[in-house]
Amino acid sequence: MTKFQVAVLISGNGSNLQALIDAAALSDYPAEIALVISNRPDAFGIERAQKAGIRTAVIDHKKYETRSEFENALQSELTKQPIDLICLAGFMRILNPEFVELWRDRMINIHPSLLPAYKGLNTFQRAIDDGVRFAGCTIHYVVPEMDAGPIIMQAVVPIGQNDTKETLAKKIQQQEHKMYPAALKKIANGSVCVRDDKVTYESVDLGDDAVISPIL
Ligand code: GRF
Repeated sequence: MTKFQVAVLISGNGSNLQALIDAAALSDYPAEIALVISNRPDAFGIERAQKAGIRTAVIDHKKYETRSEFENALQSELTKQPIDLICLAGFMRILNPEFVELWRDRMINIHPSLLPAYKGLNTFQRAIDDGVRFAGCTIHYVVPEMDAGPIIMQAVVPIGQNDTKETLAKKIQQQEHKMYPAALKKIANGSVCVRDDKVTYESVDLGDDAVISPIL
């Protein structure tokens, strides 16, 4: 049986890409990482993909005069082979609504905050500065508005008294690496539906426990 075909778009290190590659290496994982595209020629994630024998492409945004021309090049690379879903994983380009529409309900992103809080950059320091008790990360479908769209999964991480943006980033990334393969698995299995801008699951165990910080 053909597995669910995934393209991962990156701009840098690619640690989330690596988590997806590692998960997809398991024979019973329902998705295959079929293509990795970077907009930066020096992205380490390209090396990770090549090592895993995945087709790669570099589409350097600096070589295109407009965002639309860059996205046309992206789209032509993405349509060279069947792709069921795009996973943005540290892809640092804003996408035009026209491109987002082409991949409506077929493109997801991981963001290092508990959306809709802390959209944009510098999420860890902003959460520490605000003194909030929890930070986290979110996987969501991509819509034209940045860091918005139906939420698929979130992980909550308590902010410790001595946390710096670096230590918090490390804790959150550990959760990202667990969550991205888990979310992709659910989508590939067909158990995730998007309806009325919200995600619903065929069957899901939410548990009843609240997470309180500090612990009572
Ligand atoms: C992740 O923290 C993700 O939340 C954000 O960009 C970072 C990418 O890291 N969108 P990596 O390239 O996967 O290591």
